[in-house]
Amino acid sequence: MEGFLETARPLDFNYGEKQGDERFRSSLALFLGRAHGKPVSAQELFLTNGNSQALDFVCDRFTRPGDTVYVEEPSYFLAFQVFRDHGLNIVGIPVDQDGMQIDILEKALRRSPPALVYTIPSFNNPSGLTLSRERRERLADLSTEHGFVVAADEVYQMLSYFDEVPPAMGTMVDRGRVLSMGSFSKILAPGLRLGWIQANSELMENMLDSGWVNSGGSVNHVTSHIVRYAIDSGLQEQHLEAVRKAYRNRLVAMGDALSEHFDDLARWTQPAGGYFYWLEMSNGTEAVELRSVALEAGAGLMPGPFFSGSGGLRNFVRLSFAHYTEADIREGVSRLADAFRQSVPGPGP
Ligand SMILES: Cc1ncc(COP(=O)(O)O)c(C=O)c1O
Repeated sequence: MEGFLETARPLDFNYGEKQGDERFRSSLALFLGRAHGKPVSAQELFLTNGNSQALDFVCDRFTRPGDTVYVEEPSYFLAFQVFRDHGLNIVGIPVDQDGMQIDILEKALRRSPPALVYTIPSFNNPSGLTLSRERRERLADLSTEHGFVVAADEVYQMLSYFDEVPPAMGTMVDRGRVLSMGSFSKILAPGLRLGWIQANSELMENMLDSGWVNSGGSVNHVTSHIVRYAIDSGLQEQHLEAVRKAYRNRLVAMGDALSEHFDDLARWTQPAGGYFYWLEMSNGTEAVELRSVALEAGAGLMPGPFFSGSGGLRNFVRLSFAHYTEADIREGVSRLADAFRQSVPGPGP
């Protein structure tokens, strides 16, 4: 990062502004505006240590122990841990091909209003499903009508490999009580521990009124200068393009391998972005048991119940394609299929 060191100033190593360094937020705002097709103001952005910390912070500011959080069923298992840390009751809302079923959410809202609705709108972890534009807008409207906060985890929003993705929830922060959480983890490097929350002025005011923000200023101030350099020099956009291309090829390689080896073992829909395939195994397979079978075969998977708010989804598994070469993906899928065939009872006579 030669360029960064040449332009660094002593103040870059002092406490940062509460929302995050102004020059960083201006660069980030331009980057997000280009990525999401709608101008973003630096005033709407709050710097975080990435989406995990952002979610913890959102729970801290907008929930109390005993509150309810509605989540997609399935959803990210480590988000569940954050919710449990805050004493929240997790309630799953079923999904279909357009993501969270908002009519079911509406019924649940009338029965029991939540503090938060947590969604992974694009390329959900683990299902790969994407919330439609209409449902995003309805969710934003409902947040105002019912007074809850939408915590939109947009970590995969820019990892779209084929078609246009519906607009980020970040473009809807003025439409409702929407917090859009984004991160450099999936588009640059997770070790940076850098991300952002996009929010309207009312929600921003609440976040800025936090003790640790008042005491220490923004998190990860120095790293934000390095990432600003990556954005301003075009490195971030180049890297994102390269990552999208590589992940698209890996997604296709896994889809082909699954068609070849898994036709009689599972059902799935090809995702259009993100990191994961979500497989519904046939024959009442217990996914938790398949995990050790997979490990013995030198492959990996995550069992469905991890991603359920209530221990359901017992015959689903998540496979990740993002971090493996196409050759390893082909080999891994073939090994998994062999191992499953040996361990899982076939269809009866
Ligand atoms: C849905 C989701 N949210 C958050 C994270 C973690 O994000 P970060 O590294 O920004 O904390 C992940 C990583 O797997 C994820 O899949």
